[in-house]
Amino acid sequence: KDARIEAIASSIRVVPNFPKPGIMFQDITTLLLNPKAFRNVVELFVNRYIDKGITVVAGVEARGFIFAAPIALAIGAKFIPLRKPRKLPGEVISEKYDLEYGTDCLEMHVGAVQPEDRALVVDDLIATGGTLCAAMNLLERAGAEVVECACVIELPELKGRERLNGKPLHILVESR
Ligand code: PRP
Ligand code: MG
Repeated sequence: KDARIEAIASSIRVVPNFPKPGIMFQDITTLLLNPKAFRNVVELFVNRYIDKGITVVAGVEARGFIFAAPIALAIGAKFIPLRKPRKLPGEVISEKYDLEYGTDCLEMHVGAVQPEDRALVVDDLIATGGTLCAAMNLLERAGAEVVECACVIELPELKGRERLNGKPLHILVESR
């Protein structure tokens, strides 16, 4: 396997029982402390998307921002923050999604995307897939075409991929 992928995987710290018992938390802060590994993450995505005609990269607050912004800059696309509720000052559209207990919501500014935009949705991790599903819905409601979703880490046992309605999902590593 690609040595860069191995180095990325081994730089992600797994914290058992955080934030609650039974959860194996995938901590990307240790990856961010390793500039080579962080650079490799960005470069692997940039190489994949540089020639795909992507015009916007949407990042999911908060951890998705870290990866989405450098990818957007490198491929020459617009960056759109998809934010938690009541953070954006302009007119927004919202998408609720389910959490283990209760619901959460993502918002996007009206006018951030145009119908001709081709979008990449970026987050650090896919677990149940609820977050990415809400993110895709926002972009599609605004008329953009979602080309693909990209995450650093997938928790395959949660089958989040199945909630993406067949939309391609590209990941770098599976959780350990
Ligand atoms: C985490 C993670 C993903 C999401 C994945 O974010 O960063 O965005 O959960 O879960 P899902 O696939 O089950 O929807 P979280 O909401 O904890 O917030 P943060 O990024 O602001 O830390
Ligand atoms: Mg998140």
